[in-house]
Amino acid sequence: MTMPTPTPSTIALGVPDSGIVDIMNYGRRRGNVMPLWAGEGDLTTPAFIREAASKSLVDGETFYTWQRGLPELRQALADYTNRLTGQALDAERFCVTGSGMQAIQIALQLVLDPGDNIIIPSPAWPNIVAASGVRQANVIDSAMPFVDGRFVLDMQAIEDAARDPKTRAIFINSPSNPTGWVADLETLQAVHALAEQHNLWIIADEIYSRFVFGDAALPGTDPKRAPSFKDVAPLSPRIIYVNTMSKNWAMTGWRVGWIEAPVELAQRVENFIQYSTSGVAAFMQRAAIAALNEGDWFIGEQVARATANRDLLVETFAPLNRLQVSAPDGAFYLFFKVVGETDTRSLARRLVDEVGVGLAPGTAFGPGGEQFLRMCFARDPEHIADVANRIARWMSINP
Ligand SMILES: Cc1ncc(COP(=O)(O)O)c(C=O)c1O
Repeated sequence: MTMPTPTPSTIALGVPDSGIVDIMNYGRRRGNVMPLWAGEGDLTTPAFIREAASKSLVDGETFYTWQRGLPELRQALADYTNRLTGQALDAERFCVTGSGMQAIQIALQLVLDPGDNIIIPSPAWPNIVAASGVRQANVIDSAMPFVDGRFVLDMQAIEDAARDPKTRAIFINSPSNPTGWVADLETLQAVHALAEQHNLWIIADEIYSRFVFGDAALPGTDPKRAPSFKDVAPLSPRIIYVNTMSKNWAMTGWRVGWIEAPVELAQRVENFIQYSTSGVAAFMQRAAIAALNEGDWFIGEQVARATANRDLLVETFAPLNRLQVSAPDGAFYLFFKVVGETDTRSLARRLVDEVGVGLAPGTAFGPGGEQFLRMCFARDPEHIADVANRIARWMSINP
């Protein structure tokens, strides 16, 4: 006789299923679907990065390693960041994590106690909201108004939320997944000033900073990058940066990321790593070193592809009456509204069944995004052109 399972924790029962994984599971069962639902491209990690990992294994680097990450990798992270931002940050600020997702989890653990509030502008990547729930924090969704085809931060709503004494942190993801919104320097400055005034932490997720288009790039940067909190508040004691190897170097499957925080927090970060994953495998860290030190050319190629795809999608979709599309300023997602569609979860399923295209429904991204679909365009331009035409045709025969 099998005994019933004991009741899981309230936290476990309260964690939502991911709306992105939901459509992926639906589409995978059907098969032969162009997978533009997740945040990853179609390129395999470049060979020189894979070879660095192989060499490490051949050399026998199979032991427990530094909890904070190999010193050479922490130095490579500092060098990379300094190269991009013109700063002189110490490698002690950087700790290696087992993905950007784990960096987010640790950042939340560092700043929030159960019952604290965290402000998260939405639409937002659902994992940020769900991980805050796992932390038993109270998420204040600050819906970004959609004005003249663009999302904007509602500073008044944020200020109102910041006044609540339980509010401890604000999460800013710029360039944004899913909206493509990119904060300008004035906005970053205003958020930082508000955080200072109300003694809040800022968790800064700038993982898409290299994917920035047109005028949204910080003037004078080469290679181009988005404005960063580093430009307005260098070495601010209240900012924790989360980052990842996943997107820039096509390493989504590796699960390596990093957290950058004031050095006073490094021991706390190390403790959270010790009591969760106990560090990242050395061979993966060797791959990350190669990527950071020698991989700029590859990022350049990916950004060029994304730029061309973005332009093509906007050109193809803009004339369609049923779609409200604006060119994203950053990241690699087209977040577009289908006029008259209230249930984007079932619309995404119809697109899987009838067009063979997998898009993420806006319902997955919280308040303000429900009527949108998200398409990842970090892909072969021929695939993107084909998908754009198929969707355009479908929209015209399904008014
Ligand atoms: C905004 C944002 N932050 C963090 C991540 C984490 O990436 P990973 O866990 O693959 O390192 C993602 C991945 O999609 C993301 O979109």
